Amino acid sequence: MKPSMRLDKMLAHEGYGTRNDIRRLVRKGAVTVNGRPASDPGMHVRPREDEVRVHGRAVAYREFRYIMLHKPAGVVSATEDARERTVLGLLPDVLRRRGLFPVGRLDKDAEGLLLLTDDGKMAHGLTSPRKAVYKIYRALVRGVADAADAEAFAAGVTLDDGYRTMPARLTVLASMPAPALAEAVSHYGEPPDGEGISGGFGTPETVAAPGAERAQAKSGAREETLSPDETGDGTVPEMLRAARRLAEEPFLNRSAWEEAVRDGAAVSWVEVAIREGKFHQVKRMFEAVGKKVLYLRRVAIGPLRLDPALAPGEWRELTPEEEEALRGQGRET
Ligand code: URA
Repeated sequence: MKPSMRLDKMLAHEGYGTRNDIRRLVRKGAVTVNGRPASDPGMHVRPREDEVRVHGRAVAYREFRYIMLHKPAGVVSATEDARERTVLGLLPDVLRRRGLFPVGRLDKDAEGLLLLTDDGKMAHGLTSPRKAVYKIYRALVRGVADAADAEAFAAGVTLDDGYRTMPARLTVLASMPAPALAEAVSHYGEPPDGEGISGGFGTPETVAAPGAERAQAKSGAREETLSPDETGDGTVPEMLRAARRLAEEPFLNRSAWEEAVRDGAAVSWVEVAIREGKFHQVKRMFEAVGKKVLYLRRVAIGPLRLDPALAPGEWRELTPEEEEALRGQGRET
């Protein structure tokens, strides 16, 4: 960051409007620098040291902004779209004016961790497949995911367009019949807070369908499987919550879920770690092994975890520690 910059440039960067808007604010005497009204919008200030206020409120200058959004289903990961609601629409105007963009995409029917920033260098470091930053997803898939699928993901699968994926890690957390899961959802009402539900419904081990042993093959992925409660409150509550979202949220793939229930099909709750971001990649990887993704949620980008306190549609700034951890990412491989 430059040690000094024009006052109007600093305020425009922080979302106070165009240079003309800022000139008007200055003319009205609404802007002070170190306690004195500013008279020239072109005056130089030192953003780290000088105290700049607008209408008495201190302006915190940040070169870049980093926003963690719990993306809900039904909005697209774009800065603008002629027909669809975008993730930018979930943020206040002052942030929208910063020129934030999403780091990697999540499908309209996917939920979970989306990072938005105006730091292009960091975004590149996190999305370039050569930099080996793993994105971790939890998904409900139709079928019994098993060790053979995990081995296929580790070796790389061939997508419908002939592309062979880089090594990915698949961990099967639990499998069970879809009707039993649907019944558990209606039986338990509101998603549980973790406590109690495992006791009444069975631990992940007891719900595992035959053949769905915890499968994980060596994939070259450096990251370990997240602990079941690292981004939620345990495998079973998480799986129930996903099924409940499917039953209630119109932008998710409800028809495919209802079909699985009607057919008495098995479903599996899985974790997938990939370092690439091809179009519909996780869904197409499962298609390549004959399974359909019913629900998809991103829970981690490298060291960054989706904050369980954020409900779908909610956001917060990254903490300095989270920012620092992300900055350490992006080693070339
Ligand atoms: N893979 C997908 O299929 N969809 C996403 O939104 C992200 C990864």
